[in-house]
Amino acid sequence: MDLRPAEVTSILEKEIANYRGQSAMQSVGTVLSVGDGVARVWGLDDCMMNELLEFPGGVRGVALNLEEDNVGCVLLGDATKVKEGDQVKTTGRVISVPTGNSLLGRVVNALGDPLDGRGPLAVGEDDYWMIEQPAPSVVERRGVHEPMQTGIKAIDAMIPIGRGQRELIIGDRQTGKTALLVDAIINQKRTGGGDPKNPAQVICIYVAVGQKQSTVVDVLRKLNAHGAMTYTIIVAASANEEASMQYLAPYGGCTMGERFRDEGRHVLVCYDDLYKQALAYRQVMLLLRRPPGREAFPGDVFNLHSRLLERAAKLADNAPEINPRYKKGGGSLTALPVVETQENDVAAYIPTNVISITDGQIFLETALFNAGIRPGVNAGISVSRVGGAAQIPAMKKIAGGMRLNLAQYRELAAFAQFGSDLDKATQQVLRRGERLTELLKQPQYQPMSVEDQIMVIYAGTSGGLDDLEAKRVLEFEKAFLAHMRDNHAEIAQAVIKDKGVSDASKAVLDEAIKTVKAQLLAEVALAADKGKAKAAEAPKAAAPAAKTDKPKHG
Ligand SMILES: Nc1ncnc2c1ncn2[C@@H]1O[C@H](COP(=O)(O)OP(=O)(O)OP(=O)(O)O)[C@@H](O)[C@H]1O
Ligand SMILES: [Mg+2]
Repeated sequence: MDLRPAEVTSILEKEIANYRGQSAMQSVGTVLSVGDGVARVWGLDDCMMNELLEFPGGVRGVALNLEEDNVGCVLLGDATKVKEGDQVKTTGRVISVPTGNSLLGRVVNALGDPLDGRGPLAVGEDDYWMIEQPAPSVVERRGVHEPMQTGIKAIDAMIPIGRGQRELIIGDRQTGKTALLVDAIINQKRTGGGDPKNPAQVICIYVAVGQKQSTVVDVLRKLNAHGAMTYTIIVAASANEEASMQYLAPYGGCTMGERFRDEGRHVLVCYDDLYKQALAYRQVMLLLRRPPGREAFPGDVFNLHSRLLERAAKLADNAPEINPRYKKGGGSLTALPVVETQENDVAAYIPTNVISITDGQIFLETALFNAGIRPGVNAGISVSRVGGAAQIPAMKKIAGGMRLNLAQYRELAAFAQFGSDLDKATQQVLRRGERLTELLKQPQYQPMSVEDQIMVIYAGTSGGLDDLEAKRVLEFEKAFLAHMRDNHAEIAQAVIKDKGVSDASKAVLDEAIKTVKAQLLAEVALAADKGKAKAAEAPKAAAPAAKTDKPKHG
């Protein structure tokens, strides 16, 4: 075989020209001790805060304590596979989650790994975003000014939420907190018909922290049944998962939302709930031997929630010019964190922290809930500090006086129990309040469009229902909305367009209220007649039975 030197050199030259040095540095450390899901590792001198570490057997961990001679890290996964003396490698990657459209409709864990058995996500390397991101700065934001309709009358009318706002939902256990979030997610279907490709469609993310798995499955089933999963991602770190996963889940969910926000979309992120996240954080930090403070929470538990909730924002239209990180301006991320209280104690450590971070709070009360006032929103102490600017004008005008009405009602109702001689004005307040309270009741999974809400609330606040029996108010609502849809469909559009409810619309509404009330009264009269007829027949049949009963009671 004869070698042609020219050819050999040309090949070698080409190889040399194409050579790219691709060596990667990886530090390797040794596990000093392991227990309770926490490992201490020696020898990782260049380890970063929050860096993902690799343990043998596919177990991953996050570096959380960078100390002089060792790194404290929590394990994400089966901790029993890790032993003293095992080798640990750094990955050079701060903990990150997959983002993007392929997550829609999926159920994933805190690290973005699918849990729904529907195969891997179609994501590339660029789709992995770090779970801790800086919050948008002041100049990159703009004031909250668009409504985030929850479809719940009591909230949209009195405690309106705007896009980009952070509104806390707080209450004891079993007061309908999760129900409220689910309804708000279902209601977002109105924004874009449930089609995630429609730029107007609000993307929803439900982060379940420390919930029972059955609760998560229930939420998934309900969202599916209402066609809401097409634009929703569920991030689940159930109660049976490691505390580390529960503590990380909200950040992961937020990052997934930020991807959409930075592309100019509107996002609603629900954290259910942050009290459980704080408990998980406390557990992890105590195991890492950070000093405990009030209620044994570590000193930075405030920061845990503030740096998460600060990431909710309404971006300015020119945000991309200020910071190239944003692909498109005008997007928003609304946060609805939930905090569970013990015995209505809103002055406990975590509730006060989160109350001070958010732009308002919705109090759900056990007493109201058990009295059948569902959702059990206490309108007196609930507030939304920025949402008013986002409420649509017609709703603002007609619902403006309602809070005051209800507050007066509640004050007088307690007092009126003791006396029967009430003056006219007091009676009127009680009458109106009773009907408004009734009007704000709403069953689950039936969010109402804002135009329907405006029309029914108009019926209440205009006094149109004052002469109707309180227990028939919801029946009226149903008949009234059907009547408006069938006969005056244009009014629904008019109340959205007009800057208030115009006099012409008011005339139509007043007329419709009268008609529907008359219909209801006629039905009552008919039913009463039937009842009388039955009662007339009844004594004959009932008489013998009464006789046989007598000896027992006598
Ligand atoms: N508007 C409503 N009308 C009727 N029932 C409701 C309503 N809202 C909630 N419920 C019912 O009340 C119960 C508790 O609701 P939910 O689970 O949402 O409360 P929670 O505060 O999230 O409870 P937990 O503290 O267990 O998380 C559920 O059975 C739910 O179906
Ligand atoms: Mg719940």
